[in-house]
Amino acid sequence: MIPHFVEFNYLCDKFLNLFSLFKKSKNIQASESILDLVGNTPLVNLQKVTADYPGQFYAKLEWFNPGQSSKDRIALSIIENAEAKGLIKPGSTIVETTSGNTGFSLAMASMVKGYKCILAVSSKSSQDKIDGLKAMGAEVHVCPAHVAADDPRSYYEVAKRIHAETPNSIYINQYFNELNTEAHYKTTGPEIWRQTAGRITHLVACSGTGGTISGTARYLKEKNPSIQILGVDAYGSVIKKYHETGKFDENEIHPYRIEGLGKNLIPSATDFSVIDTFVKVTDKDAALAARNLARTEGIFAGYTAGAALRATELYNDQNIFDENSVVVIILPDHGSRYLSKIYSEKWMTEQGFIDAEDLVQTSDKSAVTNSQ
Ligand SMILES: Cc1ncc(COP(=O)(O)O)c(C=O)c1O
Repeated sequence: MIPHFVEFNYLCDKFLNLFSLFKKSKNIQASESILDLVGNTPLVNLQKVTADYPGQFYAKLEWFNPGQSSKDRIALSIIENAEAKGLIKPGSTIVETTSGNTGFSLAMASMVKGYKCILAVSSKSSQDKIDGLKAMGAEVHVCPAHVAADDPRSYYEVAKRIHAETPNSIYINQYFNELNTEAHYKTTGPEIWRQTAGRITHLVACSGTGGTISGTARYLKEKNPSIQILGVDAYGSVIKKYHETGKFDENEIHPYRIEGLGKNLIPSATDFSVIDTFVKVTDKDAALAARNLARTEGIFAGYTAGAALRATELYNDQNIFDENSVVVIILPDHGSRYLSKIYSEKWMTEQGFIDAEDLVQTSDKSAVTNSQ
């Protein structure tokens, strides 16, 4: 039996600790942890790149999330759901298949909450992304990108195997997890509705797992069924064809460069019924659109942001917009993750996306600017 005075001393200590914490933090405006900063990303009016299109165009800057991408939303939401169900507790292991961004967000949440994080990453992911995951304390397994999804070497199969072999682990499984879609239904959709004062007429969004586009779309269509959901897919992916025909066409599949966009399988996280249409974009056009955004609007965004802007251009060519349009384009992540790819002149030249002449012109221009 514990003597009463011990209990009393313990309670006094606790009270004094809490009181000194309260005194220390009084009047200080700070978040309790980095995870409190997830969501509520800003919307910015595009001034130049869409100036020739009818209507108003806004970009939703998802890298304002603390992990610098939209994937913070799903990482936090899925982990908190597993905690609430008692599936994980500090010391557990989080396993996932990821092109990089989801991994970064999961690693960030794992560090804060005390989990181990193991990630199976595609060899297509930029070295910047892979280094970032390691810096965040994750264990990274790099898997070949151009193998079938059911090949034992694919990042899907590697993640499944690690999960099966690791006791006390959960597999996030973002491609087939309805909680991915739900995270965007609960956060991204309401934010856009609020930020546009309910005036949004079109949403342009990339589809990878499909969580962003279909979760956001589901919320927006519930508010106003006439809002048009305009999807973005990549050449080399099966998504657009599946949306149009209901058929998985293997002939659509070929290697491409854009990371996080399109798929070689049909993710159940995508609710195709709330998406109106898709366009496909090329690696080159998406890269050039991202570079153009940086040089015109001063917005330094990732590769799929370029894809979304190129898609907006293609939709404009189809005369989808008019002067009453209020268009929101989701820009999923930040340009700093692509310094060795679309923002590297060497990489762009190697891919044949820019030629020596473009480079000479660019260098000359900056030389002129520097001398002024
Ligand atoms: C950079 C980037 N853009 C877009 C997407 C597509 O988002 P979603 O998976 O929600 O369809 C992803 C997904 O991995 C991504 O990493």
